[in-house]
Amino acid sequence: MSKPKVIVTRRWPEAVEQRMSELFDAEFNADDRPMDRAALKAAFGGADAVFATVSDRIDAAVLAGPVRARFLGNFGVGVEHIDIQAAKARGIVVTNTPGVLTDATADLTMTLILMVARRAAEGERHVRAGAWTGWRPTHMMGAQVAGKTLGIIGLGRVGKAVARRAGAGFGMRVLSYGRNIPSFEEARAAGVEPCATLGKLLEESDFVSLHCPGGAENRHMINEECFERMKKSAYLINTARGDVVDEPALVQALKKGVIAGAGLDVYESEPRVPPELLAMDNVVLLPHLGSSTVDTRVAMGMKVVENATAFFSGGSPPNRIV
Ligand code: DGY
Repeated sequence: MSKPKVIVTRRWPEAVEQRMSELFDAEFNADDRPMDRAALKAAFGGADAVFATVSDRIDAAVLAGPVRARFLGNFGVGVEHIDIQAAKARGIVVTNTPGVLTDATADLTMTLILMVARRAAEGERHVRAGAWTGWRPTHMMGAQVAGKTLGIIGLGRVGKAVARRAGAGFGMRVLSYGRNIPSFEEARAAGVEPCATLGKLLEESDFVSLHCPGGAENRHMINEECFERMKKSAYLINTARGDVVDEPALVQALKKGVIAGAGLDVYESEPRVPPELLAMDNVVLLPHLGSSTVDTRVAMGMKVVENATAFFSGGSPPNRIV
C-alpha cells in the first residue's frame, strides 16, 4: 500500500521530520517560510494530510473547493487558527497535542513573572549598554515574588502546573477563575482558591496570569475595565493567546500607570508587536516561546505523528478534536 501523502507547513525538529519521512510520503517546507493562503489551499487539495501550526490561518475559504485531505494534525494545543466547524463539514479529522507542552509553558510563565517583577530584561539591557556603574542600595529595585498572590485565569493543565510551581516553589497564594469551577477536592489538589468572579481575582492578585483558550469566546476578556480593577502594583502575564487581551487597552493601562507592568509571550496579530510596548521598560516581550524546548517540540511533533498513524491505520487518533 502506498504511503499517505503529507504536507508539513513549517520546519519541524529534525527527529520528527526523520520519523515522518519513514512513515509518510512527506513534503517538507525546507525554507520554513509561512505558506500563503493559495499554498495552504493547494496543500488541502493535493495531500491526504496537512500537518500545520499556529502560524497557519486555516479558515473556511482555505478549506473551500476541492479537498483531498482527510486529516489535519495541529502542532500545538490551541486551535483557534483553524475553522473547526468548516473542517468538520469537509470531513477532515483535526487533532492537537495536549499534555506534552504543559511543563514547558508553565516554566515560561514563571520565567515571565520573575523577569518582569525583577526587571531582568531591563537589567540585562543596562549591562549590555555599558550603563552599569556598580552596586548600590537603590539600584533597579523590583517587586518581590515570593509570598505574593497569583491569579490564574483558566485552570486547565497549564494553569494547574503554574499553580503548583507558584505555590510549592514560591510560597504564593494562588487564586483561580474560569469557566469550569473546580470541585473542592480539585482546587485543594491544585493548591488554588477559586474566585466566584473575575473581578475578585483581579482586585486581589499581584500577578494575573492567563491560561484560557483564545478565539471568539475569550476575545478581549481582559479589557480596560479589568485593568482598572487590578492593583496599581500588579503585573499581567500572558502565555495563552494574544486575543484574550485588548492590546490597545493594555498599552493605555501601562502608559497611564494603571498597572505596574506586563510579561507577554503572545500577541493579537503575531508577529506584530504594538510599537508602544517595544519602548516600555516595564514590559517583557518574548516571541511565542511557551512550548519551545527541544524535548517539548520533539514530543509535540511525535504526537502529531502518533495521531496521524492511528488515523491512517483505521484507528482512533488519541487527540481528536473533530
Ligand atoms: C500551543 O500549543 O497552543 C502553542 O502556543 C503553540 O501553538
